Amino acid sequence: MRLLIPALFVFSFASLFAQTPSIGTAPVPSSGPPWALMPVPAKVQAGTGLWQVQQGFTISITGADDARLAAAAERFVNHLSGATGIPLTYRTADASKATIAIRCEHNGEKIQKLGEDESYTLDVADSGVKLSAPNPLGVIHGLQTLLQLVQPTPQGFAAPSVRIEDAPRFTWRGLLLDPCRHWMPIEVVKRTLDGMEAVKMNVMHFHLSEYQGFRIESRKFPKLHELGSNGLYYTQDEMKDIIAYARDRGIRVMPEFDMPGHSQSWFVGYPELASGAGPYEIEKRWGIFDPAIDPTKESTYKFLDKFIGEMAELFPDDFFHLGGDEVNGKQWEANPEIQKYMKSHGLKSNEDLQAYFNQHVVKIIEKYKKTPVGWDEVLHPDLPKDVVVQSWRGPDGEAKAVEQGHRALLSHGYYLDLAEPAEKHYRVDPLSGNAANLPPEQQKMVLGGEACMWSEMVSAENVDSRLWPRTAAVAERLWSPADVRDVDSMYRRLEVVSERLDTLGLTHHSALRAMQERLAPENLASLHTLAEVVEPAKGYARASSHNYVSDTPLNGLPDSVPPESIAARNFSQLVDRVVAGNVSADELARIHDLLDSWRQNHERLTSALQDAPLTEVSGVSQNLSAAGSIGLQALEMLTTHATAPAGWSDQQIAQLEPMKTPQAELLLMIVPSIERLVQAVGK
Ligand code: ACM
Repeated sequence: MRLLIPALFVFSFASLFAQTPSIGTAPVPSSGPPWALMPVPAKVQAGTGLWQVQQGFTISITGADDARLAAAAERFVNHLSGATGIPLTYRTADASKATIAIRCEHNGEKIQKLGEDESYTLDVADSGVKLSAPNPLGVIHGLQTLLQLVQPTPQGFAAPSVRIEDAPRFTWRGLLLDPCRHWMPIEVVKRTLDGMEAVKMNVMHFHLSEYQGFRIESRKFPKLHELGSNGLYYTQDEMKDIIAYARDRGIRVMPEFDMPGHSQSWFVGYPELASGAGPYEIEKRWGIFDPAIDPTKESTYKFLDKFIGEMAELFPDDFFHLGGDEVNGKQWEANPEIQKYMKSHGLKSNEDLQAYFNQHVVKIIEKYKKTPVGWDEVLHPDLPKDVVVQSWRGPDGEAKAVEQGHRALLSHGYYLDLAEPAEKHYRVDPLSGNAANLPPEQQKMVLGGEACMWSEMVSAENVDSRLWPRTAAVAERLWSPADVRDVDSMYRRLEVVSERLDTLGLTHHSALRAMQERLAPENLASLHTLAEVVEPAKGYARASSHNYVSDTPLNGLPDSVPPESIAARNFSQLVDRVVAGNVSADELARIHDLLDSWRQNHERLTSALQDAPLTEVSGVSQNLSAAGSIGLQALEMLTTHATAPAGWSDQQIAQLEPMKTPQAELLLMIVPSIERLVQAVGK
């Protein structure tokens, strides 16, 4: 073990590893040197020296004989090869001679359990690396940390000497994937699992049934997938393969079958389950629809018993999600038999009827030895206490669930489909808001959270760009100590992690590049100039616009840009410095060049804007040029300390104002910064 070394030395040593900050002058993260570790480990002690990555290194594994250990080591070697370009092969050696000595005390559970020990200790020294953990999960996580430590140095690719003691803050760090609205092929699922492993997430929540599709083979009820899926579903063998792939990476797979609403695709093959007369078709629109399972029929529960029994066997995880969200109750209200049943059973409201349904389904799920999970609508005084409640509708659902005796998960604030900046998700904490006031015993009932990638507005082609890198920000919130909250540090590290995810085969950069090439093969550079500073419209603005159904192409510019413009964020920080009067000459030159390139861009892009689907964004392109021009005028006056002509500022602000609202489903993200430049003139 190495001890902390004098601060001056840490500083100069660390500068070896400092990434070129792509975002201004990000402060050093509070919890260690500026290495791009994400999530930030619980405890980091910097040492001296380097472990250089060299051909021919060897690995030893002692202690447990869990098959995941060798698999993780082999994967590590492959990833390290990819990250360094050095051809490396997995070779084993005795612990005393190995370059990387892995020690794992115990085998893990046969089926990965919530709360298994995920801690690890990593010692990196000149002579080699020691990684020890009580459980294979810690080894899996520790190897990812080691991968993140390796960076180019003057001596070649190397990891800094360091001792890391790490363990997660929350035991449930999930990501919901929705292959129902848009189909997610197996390769998408697998590379998502690779990304999750890289940032130490440990639950894939697989949302497998919806109005728009039923996505898993049922051998007991084959019409579910045969008629409910357009042929796009996972076979049981494929699902077993995905589950094994996830297990290898320290990730549990929890299935969700959303009931009693969100269930239209079930009724295409089995209309007798529905509360309203059929026939039914797979829904193509987005939104909330009326069809709901009939909770009053004995036959419903017979069906569900058989179906849940089948799925409980296929999915080994201890948890089973029953959905429970967004039941509008219209089919129940329109069905006289259901109304009669409610009266005779003392069920006074749709909520009571759903609670009645939930109690039955919970019993079935528990009969198959699973713990039920439901969206926060399931919360009701009659809900059995062992149901885990997943809060999504607001910040208070979690605390409410815990106060009523349930364990809880947070997803409100972690909806990746809303195209919000990473910062917004990062600031959301499972133990903030009302949950912060819970007594410690009740806080322990908050298991963690899940990022959600609902897929109305994403396709298999661009889903990586909606997942990554922002998921890493949520992963850090759920893993790292609560006081790791420096947003600038997060962004600095997020950029590095984002580049690294490329080497794992994630396509968040490459797919968008290809999509932009498709839009403007001959004007790519100019399209890129525009694409870099726009974001897709936020929230449900796009999905609820009625412009989209399930087979509408997602190939326009809003689909081909990242949800967050880092270029606009960088520009905003530059402008802050201009306004504060502490900008360097280089930075001034940069800001001038940027504004000028925007000013000229519309003309450069004009020919490409004549082709669909880019025609729609012509107005946004014009706005960029107009904003660039206004910014240049403002900058000129600021740098010459000129006074603006009377009325000039008001005119510019009036011209900029409408540019702040979405146009062609795009937001021009540099407008507020230009506005600040204008406001600064003459101050
Ligand atoms: C949900 O977003 N309807 C859980």
